Amino acid sequence: MNTIISKIDINNIDKSEIKKQAELLKKGKTVIFPTETVYGLGANALDEDAVKKIYEAKGRPSDNPLIVHVYSKEEVYNLAKNINEKAEIIMEHFWPGPITIILDKKDIVPYKTSGGLETVAIRMPSHPIAREIIKQAGVPIAAPSANISGRPSPTKADHVYEEMNGRVSGIVLGGDCNFGLESTVLDVTTETPMILRPGSITKEELEKVIGEVLVDPSLARKEDNDKAKAPGMKYTHYSPDADVYIVSGNENNIIEKINSLVEENKENGIRTGVMCLEKNKDKYKGEVLSLGNTLEEVGCNLFHALRQMDKMNIDVVYSEEFSTYGVGQAIMNRLLKSAGYKIINV
Ligand code: TXA
Ligand code: MG
Repeated sequence: MNTIISKIDINNIDKSEIKKQAELLKKGKTVIFPTETVYGLGANALDEDAVKKIYEAKGRPSDNPLIVHVYSKEEVYNLAKNINEKAEIIMEHFWPGPITIILDKKDIVPYKTSGGLETVAIRMPSHPIAREIIKQAGVPIAAPSANISGRPSPTKADHVYEEMNGRVSGIVLGGDCNFGLESTVLDVTTETPMILRPGSITKEELEKVIGEVLVDPSLARKEDNDKAKAPGMKYTHYSPDADVYIVSGNENNIIEKINSLVEENKENGIRTGVMCLEKNKDKYKGEVLSLGNTLEEVGCNLFHALRQMDKMNIDVVYSEEFSTYGVGQAIMNRLLKSAGYKIINV
């Protein structure tokens, strides 16, 4: 497939260039564009044939529902019903931004988009390029993360260009995504709202405005994953080609353990990578990638680092364990999935 590429400067958005891509969306074709979380692979959410092309381009199982991206809050009332007060508060407080809400769908939303469910996931992104493209397309845009199914989500223009050129009709290259982790998915159809996928907006932030929030308990253990309420959380995900392990325990023990594993692997001709906080990067042997100083930085750099490990032909990656406080919950969720829940306790 011939892919039309547009390079857009976020600080000086060329609206006529965006128009070319929006025209593709209007014609039922697929276009990749940046959002504040990760790049999305979009198509008209109300057009079943267009949505089918998303699943094909990603190689994604079609029971995994898509997030519908809107330009304005008003559109939500065309797509969903039974919108309660907590849903209203979330939209008011966090939109535009990295949170997706699950609502009861109206008939206008095809089952192809909702993965056969009676609910629909909706989000209003804040990224100015995403907003302009959705506005010009004039329809709600279904968009999963723009990676081949199972791979880490793309957070930089190079990631989408390298992986998806030729698989979609259009790509908007628009620099780096600022959060680097996907949106929080919050089910607001239940009495007490429940986080189905932790993300950039934290449980603590949500509880400040709507009171108690639950977290889907099946996310914590691999054995329970098939019970996950967000179908996408059941699948293998965020996996680089390298084999990933999380090393957990006291910091000095982690460093000692990883270094001894690096040595052992070296003797066996296994190329080993390490992912860690910036402050520890000089303490490790092997190919070390710092993920940054703060949890926010770790969230932003994680998917890129996983992709870098493959570029460096690394066979095995050891990652430090991170705090599960705040955005740490989303980081550890992604890291555990990318490691297939393999943890080395020290
Ligand atoms: O940040 C994001 O959310 C990015 C950008 C592009 O907006 N999108 C994204 O989409 O991460 P995707 O398709 O990769 O992940 C959507 C998640 C999946 O785990 C899916 O199962 C869940 O949301 N989901 C979608 N609709 C749902 C529904 N009706 N009920 C439960 N979970 C749902
Ligand atoms: Mg995804």
